[in-house]
Amino acid sequence: MAKITIPELKKKKVNGEKITMLTAYDYPTAKLLQKAEIDLILVGDSVGNVILGYHSTVEVSMEEMIHHTKAVRRGAPESFIIGDMPFLSYQVSDEDAVKNAGRFIKEGGCDAVKVEGGREVGDRIAAIIKAGIPVMGHLGLTPQTATMLGGLKVQGKDIQTARKIYEDSILLERLGCFAIVLECVPAQLAKLITDTVTIPVIGIGAGKDCDGQVLVFQDLIGLIEGFRPKFVKQYLKLHEVITDAISKFKQEVQNGNFPSQEYSFSMKQENFSQLLNEVKQKK
Ligand code: KIV
Repeated sequence: MAKITIPELKKKKVNGEKITMLTAYDYPTAKLLQKAEIDLILVGDSVGNVILGYHSTVEVSMEEMIHHTKAVRRGAPESFIIGDMPFLSYQVSDEDAVKNAGRFIKEGGCDAVKVEGGREVGDRIAAIIKAGIPVMGHLGLTPQTATMLGGLKVQGKDIQTARKIYEDSILLERLGCFAIVLECVPAQLAKLITDTVTIPVIGIGAGKDCDGQVLVFQDLIGLIEGFRPKFVKQYLKLHEVITDAISKFKQEVQNGNFPSQEYSFSMKQENFSQLLNEVKQKK
């Protein structure tokens, strides 16, 4: 399938065809997502929590993001890939923002970047777009600034925050963002925004009325045991399958059942006999 274009994404919204987006941080996952014809692949800064074991996305560096983005591009050469700009790669100055967004495009092979925040980072978003780099916005729960938002919790339940998210979505459209991720907001607010802006709205924990949905791939396959946010649907419990496989491997190695002949190599008996003779003679 050919790489989806920004006008095609908009067309999907107009036609009411849902847009699919998943995260990928590595070559094999990217290959699977491309094969499944997922519309958009996000190299999320969630790589920090999901893959690198950090406490939050705040710790993720540009170098780490570029490293993972390159692997994803190698796995999905025909997919639309979005690089997630990590904390402090765009907040300090327009120059930083354009330079780092440019690295995602030039070094990482991305088609676009994603930037968290609304009016606070409006100038940065405008500068990146002015440089010719497509930007996906991200409103609602923005994990990089979660401490300021009172933690990793639903945003826009009260009128002030709901109004701010609504107004920011209109601002992002006006600045030229090609799409917006809405994370953890009430479904009614997400529907209102989706109906208001003409650019696609991709939801995560934002109800069913958005133009598309995104999940973290490892959440979808149930790779990690433990806490699961309400909005995550596990289509698999892969951690159970993997834990079972590891236990079986351990058991079979310990009891000598692995590797059996099926998993072993052999040489011709005459060659082995000759080798044995040589060894004996050397003794
Ligand atoms: O980093 C990420 O995975 C994200 C998604 C949750 C949208 O920003």
